[in-house]
Amino acid sequence: MKQSILEICYLIGSVTFIVGLKMMGNAKTARKGNLIGAVGMTIAILGTIFLVEHAFNPLILSLIFGAIGLGTVVGWMTAKKVQMTKMPELVSMFNGMGGACAALISLIELKHHYHTLEDAARDGIQLPTQYGTLIAIFLGLIIGSISFSGSIIAYLKLNGTMNKPIRLPQYNIINLLVMIATFGFGAYLMFAGGNMIMAYGLFALALLYGILFTIPIGGADMPVVISLLNSFTGLAAAFGGFLYDNKAMLTGGILVGSAGTLLTLIMCKAMNRPLSNVIFGAFGGSNAAASNTDVKGSIKDIQVSDLAVLMNYSKKVVIVPGYGLAVAQAQHIIKELENLLEERGVEVKYAIHPVAGRMPGHMNVLLAESNVSYDKLVEMDEINPEFEQTDVVLIVGANDVVNPAAKTDPSSPIYGMPILEVDKAKNVIVNKRSMNAGYAGIDNLLFYDSKCSMFFGDAKKALTELVAEIKTL
Ligand code: TAP
Repeated sequence: MKQSILEICYLIGSVTFIVGLKMMGNAKTARKGNLIGAVGMTIAILGTIFLVEHAFNPLILSLIFGAIGLGTVVGWMTAKKVQMTKMPELVSMFNGMGGACAALISLIELKHHYHTLEDAARDGIQLPTQYGTLIAIFLGLIIGSISFSGSIIAYLKLNGTMNKPIRLPQYNIINLLVMIATFGFGAYLMFAGGNMIMAYGLFALALLYGILFTIPIGGADMPVVISLLNSFTGLAAAFGGFLYDNKAMLTGGILVGSAGTLLTLIMCKAMNRPLSNVIFGAFGGSNAAASNTDVKGSIKDIQVSDLAVLMNYSKKVVIVPGYGLAVAQAQHIIKELENLLEERGVEVKYAIHPVAGRMPGHMNVLLAESNVSYDKLVEMDEINPEFEQTDVVLIVGANDVVNPAAKTDPSSPIYGMPILEVDKAKNVIVNKRSMNAGYAGIDNLLFYDSKCSMFFGDAKKALTELVAEIKTL
C-alpha cells in the first residue's frame, strides 16, 4: 500500500515537472509553471521521507527537517534579495549545490558498497558485481563533482572575483589528459575494485577537472557554460534516480539534462558560435576579436531637445534594449518613456534579440521588472519586417545585436549571427556612453550610417533627460 502511494507521489512529481517546464516556455505562464514544479517536488520529497520503508529514527528525521528548513530559508532569502543582473551567478551557485548533492550521494553509496563487500568477504561469500549500479554511482560522482567545482568557478567569474580567463600553457591538452585520467580512474575502480581512499582520490580528480575546464573560459561566455554545467547536474541527478529506482529523480534529472543541453545549443546557435569554440576557443570576455571592418565616415550626435521632438511626433517607435540597459538599470525609466509616448499617440514596441544581454531571456526579465506588457516584446523574426514602417528605432545599450557586420563582413567573429535589421528604419538613435565595443569587441558600422545619430550618456541618465524634455512639449 505504502509503495503504491509512493509511486503515485513520484508520478505526480514527474508530471508536474513536465507541465511546469512547458509553462516556463512562455513568460505569461512561467511563474505558475515554476510553482507547479515546486509543488510536485514537495510531494515527491515528503513521499520519500514518510513512505520509504525505514525505521523512524527521531534523530534522522530532525536532521532531515533541519536541513530542509535551513536550505529553504537560505535559498528563499538569497533569491528574494538577488538583483536581476546577478541572476546567472545565483543559478550557477544553485547548480553547483545540485552537483555537490549528486557527488555526495555517490560517495555515500560507494561507502555502503565497500562495507557490503567487506562483510561478505568476512563471511566467505562471493557477491556478483552489480555493474549497472556501479556505473550509476561512478558517473554520478564524476559528473556531479565536475558540475560542482565548475559552477563555483563560474560563480566567482560572474561576481568579478576571478576577472580574467586563466589559460595555462597548452591548457586544452592538459584538460584533455585530466579528463581521460578522471574517467580512466573511475573505470579502473569499477572493474578492479577499490576502497574509500581511492574514491576520495577520484572525487578530488573530478573536482580538479571541473576547475580546469572552467578557468580558461571568458567571463562573458559563462551563461553558455552554466547552461552546460546545468545539464551535467541533471545527468548526475538522473544517475541518482537510476541508482535508487526513483522515478521522480530520474525524470527531473533527465529534464534538467536535456533542457540544459538544448539551451546551450540554442545560445551557441544564436551567437553563431560552435560549442567547441566556447569551450576550447579563446573568444569572449574583454578580448577584442579581429575583424576586417574598416570603419569609414563620421558619426553625428543628437541633442536631447531634437530627439524629444523627433520621438514625440513619430507614429511608430521601436526600442532595442541591450546589455547596457541592464548595466544602467534603466528599465523603469524606459517604461516611463513608453507610457509617455503612448499617451501622445505614438505606437511603441520593443525588439528582443535572443542573445541581447548576458543570459537567456535577460531583456524579458528586465523589462518585466518594470511591468512592460509581454505583448509589446516582439521577437527578432517578427519585428524585422516591421522596421521599414518604423519612424524611430531607439537602441539603448545594445551593440552586437544590431551590428551589420554580422551580415556583411565574412571575417567578422559575429558573421552569420542573425541581427535586428534596424538600418531599415527611417531614423536610428543609439544610446550608449562612448564608442566602446560590446561583448564581441568589434566596431559597429551602424554608428557611421547616415540615418544614425548617437545619443551619448548613461542610459538611465540620458533617458531621464529625454522623458523630462518630452514632457515639456
Ligand atoms: P553588447 O554588444 O555587449 O553591447 C552593450 C553596449 O552597452 C556596449 O557597447 C556599451 O557601450 C553599452 N553600455 C554599457 N553600459 C551602459 C550604460 N550604463 N548606459 C548605456 N550604454 C551602456 O550588448 P548586446 O547588444 O546586448 O549583445 C549581447 C552580446 O552578448 C552578444 O554579442 C551576445 O552574443 C553576447 N552573449 C549573450 C549571451 C546571452 S544568453 N544573452 C550570453 C553570452 C554572450 P559603452 O561602453 O560605450 O556605453
